[in-house]
Amino acid sequence: MSGNVNIDNNRVPRHIAIIMDGNGRWAKKKGLNRIFGHQAGVNTVRKITEACVEFGVKYLTLYAFSTENWNRPKEEVDALMTLLVDSIEKETPDLMKNNVRLLAIGDLARLPQKAEEKFRNCMKLTSANTGVNLVLALSYSSRWEITDAVRQIARLLSNGTIDINDVNEDLISQHLTTNHIPDPDLLIRTSGELRISNFLLWQLAYSELYFTDVYWPDFDKEELRKAIISYQQRERRYGKTSEQINN
Ligand code: FPP
Repeated sequence: MSGNVNIDNNRVPRHIAIIMDGNGRWAKKKGLNRIFGHQAGVNTVRKITEACVEFGVKYLTLYAFSTENWNRPKEEVDALMTLLVDSIEKETPDLMKNNVRLLAIGDLARLPQKAEEKFRNCMKLTSANTGVNLVLALSYSSRWEITDAVRQIARLLSNGTIDINDVNEDLISQHLTTNHIPDPDLLIRTSGELRISNFLLWQLAYSELYFTDVYWPDFDKEELRKAIISYQQRERRYGKTSEQINN
């Protein structure tokens, strides 16, 4: 039987964004150090990327490290950085095999130099791949991103490149780090928390939201299927009436 028998293949979300939460609690429940939770979380990243290839999702954005995560204990920050770099290095051959293109959003300049280099190398290597776009949010927060966009636009205004009447939604979108990426159709947050946590605040304006109690290390293809099916049962109205959408 086909793996995606319940999904309507004509209405698969083009872009899924995920707040991968619950690694720490998953580890604690098992009496393990938090870092084991993050290690298990990497396996989920692999499985969910493969599921997106199978389901035909074109963009998968993962909140891997927020601006606020820099405030965690140094030991955990260092372990997460090492894990991110090691995983990228280890997974690159599979990214190539699965035709996955790696992209990143966030303040990459804040990463340790070696980590930034590794990400940039992997992005370059996978840049011609045409399957899933795997977008990692690294040292990312939406307020940082919007503030940076405002700064860029203010510079263009002050040097006369643009006029105040040129400032519109499109111009703002073009100055966000996601300028080359469509807005998410579906946002998933695992672990039972009902928050957006400074993630893609501008881009989620019309996204469908899906929350599950499952911790990220336990999230799998079946859970992703449930989220997509829930998404497919929604009516996206973008502020219009149901009648307008259906006519
Ligand atoms: C949230 O769980 C998770 C993170 C802050 C880090 C997520 C990072 C990974 C899974 C590694 C990603 C790797 C690649 C290659 C993309 P938490 O620690 O906040 O969990 P808690 O709320 O239970 O404490």
